[in-house]
Amino acid sequence: MARIALVGPGAVGGVIAAWLGQAGRHQVTVCARRPIDALHVETPQGPLVARPAVLTAPEQAGPVDWVLVATKAYDAAGAAVWLQRLAARGAPVAILQNGVEHRERFAPYLPAGQLVPVMVDCPAERTDPTHIRQRGTAKLVVQDDAHGRELVALFAGTPVEASVTPDLKSAVWRKLCLNSSGVINALILQPTAALHDEQLGDLLKAMVEECMAVGRAEGAVFEAGLAEKILQMNRHAPPDSVNSIQADRSAGRPMEIDARNGVIVRLGRKHGIPTPHNQMAVALLAAMARGK
Ligand SMILES: NC(=O)c1ccc[n+]([C@@H]2O[C@H](COP(=O)([O-])OP(=O)(O)OC[C@H]3O[C@@H](n4cnc5c(N)ncnc54)[C@H](OP(=O)(O)O)[C@@H]3O)[C@@H](O)[C@H]2O)c1
Repeated sequence: MARIALVGPGAVGGVIAAWLGQAGRHQVTVCARRPIDALHVETPQGPLVARPAVLTAPEQAGPVDWVLVATKAYDAAGAAVWLQRLAARGAPVAILQNGVEHRERFAPYLPAGQLVPVMVDCPAERTDPTHIRQRGTAKLVVQDDAHGRELVALFAGTPVEASVTPDLKSAVWRKLCLNSSGVINALILQPTAALHDEQLGDLLKAMVEECMAVGRAEGAVFEAGLAEKILQMNRHAPPDSVNSIQADRSAGRPMEIDARNGVIVRLGRKHGIPTPHNQMAVALLAAMARGK
């Protein structure tokens, strides 16, 4: 039984904490910004109620065996305050966030050897601070190394599909290709069905191709036809599906614009690769967020 602290019990963090704590599997503590009496998760396997230990101030924390961070990417600095105590004895820290800069985000706070980037595929949303709807299987992918294998072992016997890959870089960039195109729906405030439009379909592919070009320059490898595949995934999704960046904009919440699109522009500049579609999306969405 491992002592596990999960920082950020939101949609992803709540699902992961609930499954890890199931039937006393591990000693799970959640680190939250406000008190939580229980986590109620509607899972594909049925309702799951978890009552982990809850801390609401970093000063209450002590060293654990593993830390899992599941805040939004823009909340890394706040999450890092918890790490000073939780990871003080060298515990590995798994970063369950979107984007490709898991290490860079936490590099100012911890030695590189403690950071464990995770590619997260866990369709879930909060309906209120303690109720979460898990809409599909939670999948976590980590680099095939000692920490990666240890993280996978924590999920043994749970329905969370944790696995290792020899090439995490390509896995996170592939996910970024999918996520980056979600900005189109956030800009037009229309669900997935809008992508049946020919011009929007062409725009999506152009955005994904920019992401692939920058990803390749960073060392990622992609299968042929990925842009078309992502377009078809969107066109075959339920027509009323709303991606998280659109949901965040609609609700007036902060958006992960930098982690999902800004990064493509920044790294594109570094490699001399033009990224005009992503650049325009970032500028427009940032201006809309400022002006709301
Ligand atoms: N949801 C999905 O379907 C999904 C799928 C794949 C990947 N992801 C990625 O997973 C990451 C997490 O997303 P999410 O949807 O789970 O976000 P979320 O529902 O907004 O949850 C984030 C949680 O972090 C908490 N938090 C923020 N700062 C904190 C701090 N300083 N200390 C403690 N807790 C803190 C928030 O607390 P409050 O309750 O106070 O706001 C919230 O509980 C993102 O990078 C996202 O892109 C999400």
